[in-house]
Amino acid sequence: MKIYNIISILVVSLGVLSGTAASAEPVVIKFSHVVAENTPKGQAALKFKELAEKYLPGKVSVEVFPNSQLFGDGKEMEALLLGDVQIVAPSLAKFGKYTKKLQIFDLPFLFDDIHAVDRFQNSAKGQELLNSMEGKGLIGLGFLHNGMKQLSANVPLRTPADAKGLKFRIQSSDVLEAQFKAVGGNPQKIAFAEVYQALQSGVVDGTENPWSNTYTKKFYEVQKYITESDHGVLDYMVVTNEKWWKGLPEDVRKGLSKAMTEAIAFGNKIALTEDEDYRAKVVEAKKAEVIKLNKSEKEAWRNAMKPVWAQFEPEIGKDLIDAALQANEEPVAAKPAKHKKK
Ligand code: SIN
Repeated sequence: MKIYNIISILVVSLGVLSGTAASAEPVVIKFSHVVAENTPKGQAALKFKELAEKYLPGKVSVEVFPNSQLFGDGKEMEALLLGDVQIVAPSLAKFGKYTKKLQIFDLPFLFDDIHAVDRFQNSAKGQELLNSMEGKGLIGLGFLHNGMKQLSANVPLRTPADAKGLKFRIQSSDVLEAQFKAVGGNPQKIAFAEVYQALQSGVVDGTENPWSNTYTKKFYEVQKYITESDHGVLDYMVVTNEKWWKGLPEDVRKGLSKAMTEAIAFGNKIALTEDEDYRAKVVEAKKAEVIKLNKSEKEAWRNAMKPVWAQFEPEIGKDLIDAALQANEEPVAAKPAKHKKK
């Protein structure tokens, strides 16, 4: 009996000790992305590291891998599901394998500007989309902005007819494929890390991206013209592995959520305030000519690309498209309450 008791005490003590040792090890969180560090997403990832390690000292260690260093397009979601990374933030155009709902963000000329995108993402319908991949083992932690996309090519793109027969690099999105086909282009799905090379070598003639990516990845060096089309949005969803996330101790999950909410707000502020600076830097470099479209020129692109909406409406849902259109309406400022006379 005595020996049994001693053994029991030893077993329990060892268990406690090993438990203590295990909990003393910080949870390592790998955050992988494909863009440069001096972009809204690059800055948000670094801010998340700073805040997560501040709020959870000794409990988490965040490693950020920018520029497709660890995983590029296509591989990062697989890596997330396999547990090789814990957080990724792909462009909303890259979730087609997991949900068709997020295709809404690729519909050309759906959103008037990035503020409308912001309003939609923060609406009830927009927030529901964060859970649209739960059955696939993915949870959305938040939306993150980059900006509105501009078209670019080695020939000036003023009218939709100018795109006819040109090869365009696109992200892995069927909507974007349809968008370029609608103007007679020849779209090709190419990973982000290969875009500069594809443009330089002439594998493709043109592409589309927001100013921050065009500047930081130097696409303006290998494109003669950039058309200020603002024809669509390129934003992100920060996603994590559902099983890993739900298996975290409560306090760690709470701390990470807080850090992520603040990091996203930080990245969004950069996206909203610095888009113009990225544009100015591209203009200053004087490598690519920036083409401004007048109202009727822009309308012609809109009319040419808009039929894509009807094509994808059955997959996306009319309710979602209507909610997005609703977000184009500026919210009416609440009237100040009348001062009651006593
Ligand atoms: C990104 O901003 O994450 C990449 C966008 C692209 O593939 O064009």
